[in-house]
Amino acid sequence: TVDALREIVDWEHGLVAPAIHFDEEVYRVEAERVFDRAWLVVGHEDMVRKPGDYITNYMGEVPVIVVRDAQGEIRVLVNKCSHRGNQVCLFDRGNVKGFTCSYHGWSFGLDGALTGAPMEQMLYRGELDKAAWGLEPVAQVVNFHGLLFATFDRSAPAFESWLDADARWWLENFVLSTPLGGLEMLPGWHRYRSPGNWKLVCENFIGDDYHVYSATHVSWLAMIQDFMEQGVRIPIITYPGTTDGPMYEGSAGGNGRGAPMGMGMVVADNDSLFKRDLAEAQELGPEAVDWVEYRREKLLELAQGRPVKPYSFMNGLVYPNMALMGFFSPMLGRHFQMFHPRGPVEHECWQWTMVERDAPQVVKDLAVQRVYQGQHGAGVIAPDDVENFERMVEAGKPARSWRRPFHYGLQLGHEDEGPKGLPGNLGPNPSEVNQRQFYRFWLEMMERS
Ligand code: FES
Ligand code: FE
Repeated sequence: TVDALREIVDWEHGLVAPAIHFDEEVYRVEAERVFDRAWLVVGHEDMVRKPGDYITNYMGEVPVIVVRDAQGEIRVLVNKCSHRGNQVCLFDRGNVKGFTCSYHGWSFGLDGALTGAPMEQMLYRGELDKAAWGLEPVAQVVNFHGLLFATFDRSAPAFESWLDADARWWLENFVLSTPLGGLEMLPGWHRYRSPGNWKLVCENFIGDDYHVYSATHVSWLAMIQDFMEQGVRIPIITYPGTTDGPMYEGSAGGNGRGAPMGMGMVVADNDSLFKRDLAEAQELGPEAVDWVEYRREKLLELAQGRPVKPYSFMNGLVYPNMALMGFFSPMLGRHFQMFHPRGPVEHECWQWTMVERDAPQVVKDLAVQRVYQGQHGAGVIAPDDVENFERMVEAGKPARSWRRPFHYGLQLGHEDEGPKGLPGNLGPNPSEVNQRQFYRFWLEMMERS
């Protein structure tokens, strides 16, 4: 199947066969060629502020510990005891002086070095080569405005070239909000398992706005409409997803210049969102109004000299598996979602919530409420997606149906019909240009032996 990938992933014609979402062999090879090679997000520096602070996460299916060592350096270590493979860290997060394995009691420092073994002198007679038996570190770690990326691949392209300049511009300005003081990560995170290959969810977040307005989320949109018509400010439900102005869909790093890093996104360019934010801010008080106005000015500065003035970035995906969500408005928290593979037909969704660091508390509180009650496992949006995935898995599991390709042809041939003058390549929204790019990147990595 892997040899035949080119036949079943014809991204140029918008055709992708379901085999890549179900086949065990593809899944096995993908672990080596995608997850063992890519730069993957593993956390945020806010999660590990002090020496000894740690979180646990996954790179593909490999459990890792992200920890700040005594010298203040952030390390990413495989969470697997070098003695016999037990996990040495059993919790999601905390602060420790080191890690002690619960099987035979070997202990490791914050830098991963083996520091001792029970009854070491008596049993190992001074012959245990401790320097050789530390925890395995990942090959490279980078802190990008607080977001921590890691790769297992010693020969992976440098992070600066993995992340091309276009993708960097969007990430810095609209995702991480660096001109606005950056983001604040809220403690803890939320996670759930769902049916569906990890790529199915990723292609959903990279730009499938089609499903939002056409079918899956219409009940949510109708509910919001009702609230608005009744003049009820929407206290608990995620901000309306529709805009009066134009929206564009595009990819940075995916515009044919061969950059290895793909980032799909949906961009909104209009005044109506700003006006809506302002109206809401007026209800929240003068501090909120000041923030919304200040924010608008900063964004206009950024757009100076450009024909299009982007106000927000709605959703996107940093290839391969970190989704970005909720960037319409400062009244929305940002969600960073990781889709960890768990076998060909299941994934685990991890969701972190972030707010704009310098926003007033009333704005942050509203944003957080909306994250938790919207695109969340128990919110009013995500369960509708999960239901679709469940049925797709049931229908797609029988191998007889793996080769008839699915249709990814929305706006095929119209990819360049968006505005010029902004980084990346913007086309119309909704479209499937980002999904096509996603499978192009995936195929490139899978074909590199
Ligand atoms: Fe960890 Fe034996 S497996 S000490
Ligand atoms: Fe959805």
